Amino acid sequence: MNVAISLADLVAIALFILGLHYLNAPPTARLGNRLAAVGMLIAVIGVLVTTLGIGWWAIAIGVILGGTIGVLAAVKVKMTAMPQMVALYNGAGGGAAALISTVEYYVYASGSNPIDPVISVSLILSAIIGALSFAGSIIAFLKLQELMTGRPITYPGQQFVNGILALSAATIAIWFVATAGTLPVWAYPVLLVVALALGVLFVLPIGGADMPVVISLLNSFTGVAVAITGFEINSTLLIICGALVGASGTLLTVLMGKAMNRPLTNVLFGAFGAAGGSEPAGGAGGGPQNVRSASADDVAVMLAYAQKVIFVPGYGMAVAQAQHSVKALADQLEKRGVKVAYAIHPVAGRMPGHMNVLLAEANVPYPQLLDMEDVNPEFPTTDVALVIGANDVTNPAARNVTSSPIYGMPILDVDKAANVVVLKRSMRSGFAGIENPLYEMPNTSMLFGDAKASVDALTAAVKAL
Ligand code: TAP
Repeated sequence: MNVAISLADLVAIALFILGLHYLNAPPTARLGNRLAAVGMLIAVIGVLVTTLGIGWWAIAIGVILGGTIGVLAAVKVKMTAMPQMVALYNGAGGGAAALISTVEYYVYASGSNPIDPVISVSLILSAIIGALSFAGSIIAFLKLQELMTGRPITYPGQQFVNGILALSAATIAIWFVATAGTLPVWAYPVLLVVALALGVLFVLPIGGADMPVVISLLNSFTGVAVAITGFEINSTLLIICGALVGASGTLLTVLMGKAMNRPLTNVLFGAFGAAGGSEPAGGAGGGPQNVRSASADDVAVMLAYAQKVIFVPGYGMAVAQAQHSVKALADQLEKRGVKVAYAIHPVAGRMPGHMNVLLAEANVPYPQLLDMEDVNPEFPTTDVALVIGANDVTNPAARNVTSSPIYGMPILDVDKAANVVVLKRSMRSGFAGIENPLYEMPNTSMLFGDAKASVDALTAAVKAL
C-alpha cells in the first residue's frame, strides 16, 4: 500500500511539473491546467487512502466543501475579479499552513517530549509565514474588492512599527527553537498575533497597480509556508508542491516587477499612488483637454482602407467582455485583406496572461498575438493602432516624462502608428491613476463608449462599406 501511495504522489508531482511547463505558452496552457488538475485529484485520493481509519471522513468533507466552493467560484466569479479570488485562495493556503503548525504545536506541548530541532524550525517558520500570508491576502482581497480603500494607507513611523513587529516575531521564533518548543503558554499565541498584524501592516501601504505584484509575492510566501509544513508532517508531496508554488510565485513577482519597471523594494515600501490617486485625467486637476473624438463611421473608414491594423487590448476590453466582438471585427477586416495582429503587454489587464486568456476564449489564432518586444517594431509601419480599453500600458509618459510615476515602465509604442484610435468611455485614468498624453497627440482620435458597443458599431460600419 505504501509503495502505491508513493507512486501516486510521484505521478501527481510529475503532473504538477508538466502542468506548469505547459502553462508556459498559450497554445498548451489549457492542457497544462488539466494535467495539474488530474495531478491534484490523484494527490487528494492518495491523502484520503493514507488517512483511512484516522479521520478520512473529515478530509472527505473538506474536499466536498472546497470542491463545491471552487466550482461555484469558477463559474460565477468574473474574469476581472480573478486577482481578488487568487488572493482569497492564497490566504486559505497560508492559513492552512499556520493552522497545521498550531495543531502540531499543541500536540507537542501537551506531551512531555521536547520537539526535534528540524521540526521546531519548520513549525515556527510555517506558523509565521502562513499567518502573515493569510492576513496579508485578506487585506489584498478587501482592497481589490473595494471593501476598503485601494489606495496605499501610510502613517508616520510605519517602517519602524513593521520593523519592531518583525523583530518580535524573530525573537520569539529563536526562543522557541532554542528551548525546543518549551515556551511559556502565552508565547505561541502572541507570535501568531504578531505574524497576523505584520501581514495586515505589510499590505496596507501597498496599493494601485502594485496590488497584483504583492498578491504574487504573498503567493510565493504561501508556497514556502506549505513546503516547510511538509517537513513538519513528513509529507514529500507538500514539500514539492509548496516549493513549486514558492518558486513560480517568486518568478512571477520578479517578471511583473520587470514589466512595470518597479523594483520589489519600491513595490513594498514605495506607497505607489498615495499622492496621485485615480482622479479623472481630464478633471479639475488639469488633464488632457485637447482631444479629438471620432465617430464609429470615421474610424470604420480608417480601418477598412488600412493595410495593417494592430489591436491593443487592455483592462477595458475585459470589463466590457468585448473579446468576441473584437474577433468579429478582425474577421471583417481580414476579409477585406487588412493584415491584423494583437499587441499583448505583459501586465495589460489585472492578472498575468489576462489578454491571452480572453482572446483565446474568442478563438483568436495564437500566431496573431504578439508580445511587446515583437510588436513594438511593427507600430511605425502600422496604419491604425486600435486601443481597446488599454490605458497605462500605452502611456508614452513612461518613455519620456522623468517625473511620471510609471517612468521607465516598458510600454506598447502605439503612438508611433500612423493613426491611433482609443476606445474608452471617458477621460478617466487607468489603474495607475495618472494622465495619458497619448490622448492629446495629433495622430490620436478617441471613440468614446463601452468597448463592446463601440467595436460592434465598427464591425457594422465596416460591413456596410
Ligand atoms: P488600465 O490602465 O487600468 O486602463 C483601462 C482603461 O479601460 C481605463 O482607462 C478605462 O477608461 C477603460 N475601460 C474600463 N471599462 C471600460 C469599458 N467597459 N469600455 C471601454 N473602456 C473601458 O488598463 P491597462 O492599460 O490594461 O493596464 C493595466 C494596469 O494594471 C497597469 O497599470 C498595470 O501596471 C496594472 N497591473 C497589471 C498587472 C497584470 S499582471 N496584468 C499586474 C500589476 C499591475 P474609462 O473608465 O474612461 O472607460
